[in-house]
Amino acid sequence: MFSKETIAAFGARKTPFYFYDLALLDDTLSACKKAADQYGFHVHYAMKANFNHEVLKAIQAQGFGADCVSGNEVKKAIEVGFPADKVVFAGVGKSDDEIIAALQFDIFCFNVESVQELCVINELAGKVGKTARVALRINPNVDAYTHHNITTGLEENKFGINQWELPACAEYLNTAEHLWLEGIHFHIGSQITNLTVFKSLCIRVNEIKTWFEERGFNLRVLNVGGGLGVDYMEPDQNNIANFSGYFEIFNQFLDRKLGQEVHFELGRALVAHCGSLISRVLYVKNGIKKHFLVLDAGMTELMRPALYQAYHKIENLTRGDIKEHDQKYDIVGPICESTDCFGKEVQLGESFRGDLIAIRTAGAYGDVMSSRYNLREQSEPFYLRKS
Ligand code: LLP
Repeated sequence: MFSKETIAAFGARKTPFYFYDLALLDDTLSACKKAADQYGFHVHYAMKANFNHEVLKAIQAQGFGADCVSGNEVKKAIEVGFPADKVVFAGVGKSDDEIIAALQFDIFCFNVESVQELCVINELAGKVGKTARVALRINPNVDAYTHHNITTGLEENKFGINQWELPACAEYLNTAEHLWLEGIHFHIGSQITNLTVFKSLCIRVNEIKTWFEERGFNLRVLNVGGGLGVDYMEPDQNNIANFSGYFEIFNQFLDRKLGQEVHFELGRALVAHCGSLISRVLYVKNGIKKHFLVLDAGMTELMRPALYQAYHKIENLTRGDIKEHDQKYDIVGPICESTDCFGKEVQLGESFRGDLIAIRTAGAYGDVMSSRYNLREQSEPFYLRKS
C-alpha cells in the first residue's frame, strides 16, 4: 500500500526502477532481531538476496552478520561495515583468489561444500600463514517442499557434502594443520512456508551433530541456513515474516549444548517485502479474447516470474481499485521472449498508457538477478524512510 505522496514521487521519476521502503525494512529487521535474541540465536543476512548499498547499511546497522557467496560479496560486506568476525563465506565453487582474499580479511568462517574444497582451503591457509575456520555444509536429505528450482537439501543436487562422505571429512580434519572446525552447516531450500519442514531439519541436525561429537569434535556452531518464506499473495496484510514461529521451532527441536551457538542465514524474509518494481504501461493491446498490458519493465528487471513461474502481486497505482471496470490482463514486458510475462489474467482496474504499475514483494532476488539482455538500461533505485 503506497501513500498518495509516494505515488506522486514515483510519477516524477523515469521508470522502471526499484523502490525500497526503508522504514518497513527497519521494522522487519527489528522484528527478526527481537525474535532471535529471545533465544540467543545469531542471524547472518544472506547477501545474495539483495546487495543494494542502502539495504546493506540498514541491515549492518542492526547488528546482523553477513552470509556471502562470492569474493565480491565478502569485500562488499566488509566495506559496508559488517565486522569480519560476523562474515561467513559460503558457495559451492569458491576460487583460490576468493579464498585467499577471505583469509586475509580474517572472516569468521568458510562453509565448505566438498572434501576437495577442505584440502584446497587447508593448503591456501598454510600458504598465507593463517588458520581457516570452517563449517561443513552437510546435505541433510530433507525435502523442503518448495519449488524444485530452489530446493537444495536433497541428496541428488550439487550442494553440500553427502552423509556417506563424513568419515572422509572427519579423517581429513584430524590431520589438516591449517583448518579449525567451527561447526556444521545446513540449508534445505528457499521460500519455505510449511514450517514443520524445519522440525525435520532439526531432527537430522541432532543426529549429525551427535555423530561428530561421538568422534571427539567439539562443534561450537550449528548453522541451519535460511529459507523462511514470505507471503507473496498479500504483501500489505502480512508484510513481516513469521520470525517468532520460525525461531521457536529451532528452540524447541534443536539440541544444543551449553555454549553452542545457533546461526541462521536469512535472505528473503528480511528484504522481500520492502522492495517493489515500479513500472509504467507502455501499451494496451486489446485482442478478442485477451488484453495485454505491455510494461516498460521486463524479465531483465525481475526474472523470478519467467524463471520460476513465481507469483508477484501486481497493482495499478494510477487507477487504484476501480471495481466497476475491472479487466483481466496478461502483464508482459518488452523483451523478445514469450516467458517475459509477470502475470496472466491479472484482475486490474481498466488501465491506460502511462499508468504506474507496482510489482510487489520484489526486494529479494529481484534487482540482484537483473540482466542487460537486449542491452537494457540499468536504473537507479529509489528509497524512502518515513519517520
Ligand atoms: N543459505 C544458503 C546456503 C543459500 O543457498 C541461500 C539461498 C540462503 C542461505 C538464503 O535463503 P533465503 O533465506 O533467502 O531463502 N533466486 C531464488 C532463490 C534462490 C535461493 C538461493 N539460496 C528466488 O528468487 O526465489
